[in-house]
Amino acid sequence: MSYHFPEGFLWGASTAAHQVEGNNVNSDFWVMENLDGSTFKEPSGDAVDHYRLFREDIALMEKLGMNAYRFSIEWARIEPEEGVFNETEIEHYRDVLKACQENKITPIVTLHHFTSPAWLIRSGGWESAETPFRFARYCSYVMRKLGDMIPYVCTINEANISIGIAKIIKRHQINASAVQVGINTDKGTRMQAYYAALSDAFNVHPQEVHSFLGPRTEKGLEIIFQAHVEARNAIRCVSPSTRIGITMSLYDIQSISGGEKQAEHALNEEFLRFQAYLKEDDFFGLQNYTRAVYGPDGMLPIPDDAEKTQMGNEYYPQALEAVIRYVAKQLDMPVLVTENGVATDQDERRIAFIQRALTGVHACIADGIPVIGYMHWSLLDNFEWQLGFSKTFGLIAVDRTTQQRYPKPSAYYYGKIAATNRLADEDSQSIVE
Ligand code: BGC
Repeated sequence: MSYHFPEGFLWGASTAAHQVEGNNVNSDFWVMENLDGSTFKEPSGDAVDHYRLFREDIALMEKLGMNAYRFSIEWARIEPEEGVFNETEIEHYRDVLKACQENKITPIVTLHHFTSPAWLIRSGGWESAETPFRFARYCSYVMRKLGDMIPYVCTINEANISIGIAKIIKRHQINASAVQVGINTDKGTRMQAYYAALSDAFNVHPQEVHSFLGPRTEKGLEIIFQAHVEARNAIRCVSPSTRIGITMSLYDIQSISGGEKQAEHALNEEFLRFQAYLKEDDFFGLQNYTRAVYGPDGMLPIPDDAEKTQMGNEYYPQALEAVIRYVAKQLDMPVLVTENGVATDQDERRIAFIQRALTGVHACIADGIPVIGYMHWSLLDNFEWQLGFSKTFGLIAVDRTTQQRYPKPSAYYYGKIAATNRLADEDSQSIVE
């Protein structure tokens, strides 16, 4: 691929703390994964031990040709109990940021990527009116300590994800509170046991366990976006030079004849209605994986003959270009692709995905849209939440028995594009070998 991207374009990959670090013991997910009857496919455990191996991983990114890394700081590590802040964990993330500096990797830090401290859930979680304040307090603490090393911050990952979750629930008629707490509703008795354990663990009624990854009330949605606004204000005070954004999960929403109104409704519900909260942001973090096509009666099923990913999504890398174009029409700010990728065990399909996605990004830039970077999801094969380690999104495979890293051909392919664009004068071949 021989397109030329603008100078300073951020070429990187993303991870999230809980999915890669391992032993996130004070988080709500750790509790849920390890309860009797949990239907998480498996617990996160040591994950891919990135907490210990981050230096090697960041050096490998540089070696491959990338110049940016989006990762998250884990709230449950920084504030394991309400109001008790852990200096040692701040020093850990300072070391991660230093490793980025040493490897000329621009860090893009996410302050909340799905997991929350278990104590937050005991105090009402993401339906409590106190949560925006609590979140902003944590953000302020982190940014006061580390902000001078953080040029880009994403407050909340996929602030709108609950809408997608609610749609899945509606489509499959799943018991909403079961999804909220991450259990399989087919297993009635097990569910009762799990509910009891959950209730004990969080000391609230199971229906009141409001972890981030669940359906939200309207009030809960407002709380999430309010948390973003409070965090943005707090970060601006303590680290004025850090550029601040949020990330949202957006489908390429399309319609067939008669489905236009449904598509319009979906766009409003999933994106447009939140615009007021984003007006003062410095960039928009866009995350896209596929498209959603609407007919007169709502979202259409994926056609039988369509290629599907391990996640059951339609393989549709051209979605990214369409979503960037749509977002750029609505928001007057730079767009950073904070996630885009595919779960597949056929790495050549990942290569084709990246190729098509980047062709789209380039076409947007050529038309004057300010796209400032592309973060592939994901750097490493990792813990895919409920589905455990079975889904492979990574550019780099990991043997979890040895924690050995094995870059896939897609990692070399993507790294070479990045390096060729960044170091136009150098022989990029030597970088990817
Ligand atoms: C999330 C990631 C997740 C990925 C693939 C995104 O919604 O931010 O944490 O692993 O999608 O499912």
